[in-house]
Amino acid sequence: MTAVIEAEDLCKSFGEVDALDGLSFTVDGGQVFGLLGPNGAGKTTTVRILSTLDKPDAGFGRIAGFDVVDKPHQARASAGLAGQSTTLDLKLKGRENLKLFAWLYGVPRQAAAERSEELIDRFDMGHYIDRPVETYSGGEQRRLDLAVSIVAEPPAVFLDEPTSGLDPASRLTVWREIEHLAAAGTAVLLTTQNMDEADRLANEIMVIDRGRQVGRGSPRQLKDALKRDALVVTFSNSGDRADASALLDGHVVSAVGDDSLHVRTERRLDSFDALAVLAASGIEVSDFDVHKPTLDDAYLALTGHVAPDEGAP
Ligand SMILES: Nc1ncnc2c1ncn2[C@@H]1O[C@H](COP(=O)(O)OP(=O)(O)O)[C@@H](O)[C@H]1O
Ligand SMILES: [Mg+2]
Repeated sequence: MTAVIEAEDLCKSFGEVDALDGLSFTVDGGQVFGLLGPNGAGKTTTVRILSTLDKPDAGFGRIAGFDVVDKPHQARASAGLAGQSTTLDLKLKGRENLKLFAWLYGVPRQAAAERSEELIDRFDMGHYIDRPVETYSGGEQRRLDLAVSIVAEPPAVFLDEPTSGLDPASRLTVWREIEHLAAAGTAVLLTTQNMDEADRLANEIMVIDRGRQVGRGSPRQLKDALKRDALVVTFSNSGDRADASALLDGHVVSAVGDDSLHVRTERRLDSFDALAVLAASGIEVSDFDVHKPTLDDAYLALTGHVAPDEGAP
């Protein structure tokens, strides 16, 4: 079986910035591929190239076997896109947008009407679907955006940070829909900065930073690769942090907030040793937390960035 989404050595520069520096991956039908990375990592650029909105400088993209540069119309028709910026017509009502996009994708009228009703029901959009889109809340618009992207039941779907800024209930609706899409055989490319989301939904995750792959595997494999406990220490006096950092040299992963350090522990320096070292030099610890590695820790170790808080810009 050939993959539905194929990216091979994609490269793209904007002036001096190498937005993509040789990314390769494939996504089969029924799989959710998670593209994870901090702001500016190249997630949206990848999605834009694969959905024919932008051209690669080098490398190939194929959707359902259609090259995104040589066969852009066929490639575009094979993929739904719910992006960071909406493709909806804001002056039209939600229902009219569904109809318009079904028509653009060549869905026969009767099938389009049935499919629209099904999506309105499934996404719980009945109470707002007959208002102009410009009156929608962020969450309402995102749900419609997602519905529109799949109205023609394309074999591939690109979801570019589909839940960023959503309230928990809307996020859950989107998560269920992504599960539903994969179960129905769709190849899903999901970009996200949300570790819980990738952990829950993705079969395979590629972590990228500055346009390059820095880690790859199943959520389980990425977590297992750490094989260490994560220790977060908070100091009574934030001024002690620099001294503590020097004492634990080589084990500090990053600063957290104003007064905490994230420390990587292993056999040579377990969490209690680390705390003992601090206590022996008179540094007062107000709180600490030891936990098994999460996908957050894996992300941090791979990119050197803390995953942003939900809702942060
Ligand atoms: N049209 C553009 N012109 C100039 N630079 C761009 C453009 N689009 C993206 N970039 C740059 O390319 C890099 C990757 O951006 P992007 O793919 O949007 O990252 P992400 O979606 O992971 O946050 C960033 O450094 C960004 O500033
Ligand atoms: Mg982006």
